[in-house]
Formats: sequence, C-alpha cells, structure tokens
Amino acid sequence: MIIDGKKEAALIRDKIKKEIASLKIDRNKVPGLSVILIGDFAPSLIYVKNKEKNSKEVGINSEIIRYSDNITEKEILSKIEELNKNENVSGILVQLPLPKQINKEKIINAIHPKKDVDGFHPINVGNLSSGYKAIVPCTPLGCLLLIKKIEKSLSGKHAVIIGRSNLNGKPMAQLLLKENCTVTVVHSKTKDLKLECQKADILVAAVGVANLVKSDWVKKDSIIIDVGINKLGDRLVGDVDFESVKDKAKAITPVPGGVGPMTIACLLKNTLECFKAQ
Ligand code: GUN
Repeated sequence: MIIDGKKEAALIRDKIKKEIASLKIDRNKVPGLSVILIGDFAPSLIYVKNKEKNSKEVGINSEIIRYSDNITEKEILSKIEELNKNENVSGILVQLPLPKQINKEKIINAIHPKKDVDGFHPINVGNLSSGYKAIVPCTPLGCLLLIKKIEKSLSGKHAVIIGRSNLNGKPMAQLLLKENCTVTVVHSKTKDLKLECQKADILVAAVGVANLVKSDWVKKDSIIIDVGINKLGDRLVGDVDFESVKDKAKAITPVPGGVGPMTIACLLKNTLECFKAQ
C-alpha cells in the first residue's frame, strides 16, 4: 500500500479551515503565523512560500519576514522579541538553515515557547521527552499521524529511526516511545545499519541520503516512512529506494507526496493550537 500523504494532509487542512472559520465568527479573531526567512537558499524559499500559501488557504494570517544573508543576530533577536509581544502573532517560525554568523541555539531560545510552532525550543523538547504536553515538531508529528492511519496500536512494535537530528530523528523517537514502541535510533556511526533496519516493524528514514534503504534492508510487511527529500539529477527522491521496497512493505510513503504535505499540515495544526493556548 502506498500511503497518500497529500490526501491525509488535505483532510487535516479541511478540519483546520472549518475551525478557524468558526473562531472568526465567534471571536472575530484568527491565528497569525510569522515566518522569518534569512538569505535566499532556494529550497528554504520554496518551503516558506508553500507554508504561507497553505496558511492563507485555511484562514491563518500569515506573513514572511525576509532578511538578507548579512543581517546581524541582534536584529533577528529584536524582531523575535517584537513578535513575542505581538498579540496577533500566534506562531513564530525561523526557517533553517541560518547563515554562519547567526547562532541557531540563541535564535531558537529567543522564541516564546508558547509561540514555538516548530517545537524546537528546549522547553518543548523537554516537555515532549518527559511525556508532558508539548508543541511537537511538524515532520515527526506528520509521520506519526501517517503511521497511526495504518496501525491503530503501535504497542510493542520495533521502530527503527535512521538519523538523530533535533528536527526529525530525536523527536520521532520520543513520539514512538510514547506509543510504547521499542525504539532504536541508528546513525552514521552505527556499526551495521542494514542489520538494525532489518529488525524494524516501523522504519523511519530521516538521513538525507538518496535511495539509501534497499529492499534487503527491510522486513516483510513493515511500515516504511520516508522523510528524505534528495535531488537526484532533476528528480526528487527519498532516503528509501521506493521501487525496490514498495512490494515488500505493508505500507510506504512516496517522495514527493508522502511526509512533505503532512509537515505543512502539522504546522497549521500547531499554529491553531498555539492560538488556542494563548
Ligand atoms: N528547515 C527544514 N525543515 C524545517 C522545519 O521543519 N522548520 C524550520 N524552521 N526550518 C526547517
């Protein structure tokens, strides 16, 4: 089975759109999302435009704040401070990666945890890993929603996550632990990557290596979630060799059209949640 992330994302957007429409009638207020984009890294520009377009479609008041590559850290911090205080801004997102002169940690720490729609602030990271209520990073949240569409109970399943990034691998591990999975996180220093992946009932690949996961890496009838978006010539491919794996897996996400649309749908969901919590 090929998991249709586009369809799932459209269902989420529909629900959000309806909720925002009734908020507008009841309270004459809608959520606001401010996205800070620094520089002109082409993929970031595409992602950010997509986030804005999707936000507007569901009724979120969205703005992109753009800076050139040579902006100072101080200026970004002062903009974040202003957005933190602005009652019309429910969510703040600083698109990564950042130019070298800007310290990512300082920027993430400056965003008010209640407006941290990415779920990157240490308060949200800590709450998630403690099993408390937290804003959850959009991509792993989207992955979990897709996995749960296939399998209602994940208890006791062996989940293997390839990649240990703060954006994907680590929060994904926390979410799957919360679902009572046995979780293994593998990475570039893992001794036998293939052997670990073969044990997975649920395999999440978030490593950024085109077509890394081959058919003989996966268990028959497993669930395969591909977070990778890699350029191969003029094609976009995932971290999983889709053609060779798709007939062995029980369910698999395609690239594009799998996790990508869910990431943006979950950003809208997080923005609405932030608005309500404020
Ligand atoms: N760059 C790539 N993915 C992301 C994301 O989910 N959030 C932010 N802020 N930057 C990114």
